[in-house]
Amino acid sequence: MQTLNQVTYLRAAIRAEKEQGKRIALVPTMGNLHAGHLALIKRAHEIADVVIASIFVNPMQFGAGEDFDNYPRTLTEDLAKLEAENTHYLFTPDNKEIYPNGIEAHTKVNNEALGTNLEGHSRPTHFEGVCTVVSKLFNLVQPDMAIFGEKDYQQLAIIRRMTEDLCMPIDIVGVPTVRETSGLAMSSRNGYLTDTQRNQAKAIYTELQSVKKQILSGSTSYNALCIEAKTELLAAGLEPDYFDICDAKTLTPIRENAHSDNIVVLSAAFAGKTRLLDNISLSINKR
Ligand code: PAJ
Repeated sequence: MQTLNQVTYLRAAIRAEKEQGKRIALVPTMGNLHAGHLALIKRAHEIADVVIASIFVNPMQFGAGEDFDNYPRTLTEDLAKLEAENTHYLFTPDNKEIYPNGIEAHTKVNNEALGTNLEGHSRPTHFEGVCTVVSKLFNLVQPDMAIFGEKDYQQLAIIRRMTEDLCMPIDIVGVPTVRETSGLAMSSRNGYLTDTQRNQAKAIYTELQSVKKQILSGSTSYNALCIEAKTELLAAGLEPDYFDICDAKTLTPIRENAHSDNIVVLSAAFAGKTRLLDNISLSINKR
C-alpha cells in the first residue's frame, strides 16, 4: 500500500492508474478503523481494480463542543488493517492540504432537503461539512465508485443526492451495517463507552428491531411506536435524541396511519456523553 498525504502525489498516482484503464473505488473514512470500515474496503475490491482509502478527521463536520479534539486517531493500527485488506492507496491529508484557505471562508456544499431533520436537527452544520469534504475527495480522486456504510443512513442518502444533483459521474455504493455480536452497530465512538454503557447501548438495536417487527405485523401507530421505543431506551439508561419512522427516500417522518412502501427507522441516543446512531430498513410490498 502506498500512503500519500499530498494532493499532487495523489493526482499523479491516480492518473497513472487511469491511463491503464483501471476502475477506481474510493472509501472515505475518519480512521480508527473497525470491521465496519473494512467491509467497505472488501466491497470496493469486489467492484473495482484499485482501492483508495482516505483517512481525514474533517474539522468542518464537527460542531462547537463536539469531540473533534478527542476523536480517536490510530494511524499505525489503521495502516496495518488497510495493508491486511490489500488496499492499494491511503490518502491521509492534513488540514492545510484540504483547507488551504481556511474553513470559514471555504465554499460549502449542502442539501437542505435531506440534511435539516434527524442528524441535521441536532447537528446543524454537520452535513455541510460532510458534503463539502466528500465533494473535495471526489474531485481529487475522481473515482468510478465510492463506498459508504448504511450505518450512517442519512449521510448515505445525502451523498447520493449530492452526487446526482452535482452531476458527479460516480456510483455511490452502500454496504450493510456491521454489528458487534450484541447487535450494537460498530462505530469509532464505541471506544468511548464504559462496559456498563456498552451493555446499555444494545437497547438501540433491540428497539429498532422491535419497531420493525410491529410495523411488519401491520401497526401504523407510528407515534405510539416511537414514544414506546424512547421510553425503553430511557429505561435502559440511555438518553434518546430522536427515534423516528421515516420514508426511506425522503427521510421525512411518515404520518400516523399513512402508508409508505419503503421505511427506515432511525435513532440517535446518548450513552453518557457518547452519541450513538443506528437505523433499520424495511419494505412493505403489500398490505
Ligand atoms: P467514518 O465515521 O469514519 O465512517 C466512514 C465510513 O464507514 C462511512 O461510510 C460509514 O457509514 C461507514 N461505517 C461506519 N461504521 C460502520 C458499520 N458499523 N458498518 C458499515 N459501515 C460503517 O462517515 C464518516 O467517517 C465521515 O462522515 C466521512 C464520510 C469520511 C466524511 O468525513
